Amino acid sequence: MNQTNPLSEWTEDLSVNVDIIDDDHQAFFRLAALLNDVASTSDDDQTYLIETAINILEEYIEGHFLREQKAMAKADYAYLAEHIAAHDAFADQVTSTIQDYRKSGEIERIHTLSHLVVDWLCIHIRGMDAQYKGILTNENVDDRPLVYMAAGLDTELAL
Ligand SMILES: [Fe+2]
Ligand SMILES: [Fe+2]
Repeated sequence: MNQTNPLSEWTEDLSVNVDIIDDDHQAFFRLAALLNDVASTSDDDQTYLIETAINILEEYIEGHFLREQKAMAKADYAYLAEHIAAHDAFADQVTSTIQDYRKSGEIERIHTLSHLVVDWLCIHIRGMDAQYKGILTNENVDDRPLVYMAAGLDTELAL
């Protein structure tokens, strides 16, 4: 894969008809674009910016997956186990790509990471997330900000 290829962007056809989940998905696309931009420009603060973006990405992943999984569990969603397995596999891929970057210091790994995020999301949203359309709705999904979800601050207020 040519890592200089432009990243895909979120488009309306990726909507799952749940506003907060569409917001989460769009945030991933923006963050991947930011990572790609930072990796492409030489900036004195590049390493710091990349580490900051990586930390946010890890938090977004944790928070977003929790949001979906909790809502699916509450709705007795039939394909919850498969969905969790797909989330976990992706999170593992992200973790190992980040580890590769930190070990090697190769900026190319950050381009790989941003493409991994966007390419996986496009396939996952169209495939697995699309299957909960109509089951997860604006009414039954916890819509507090990602940072609350990731920090586990949702426990007592959980839907
Ligand atoms: Fe999702
Ligand atoms: Fe998902």
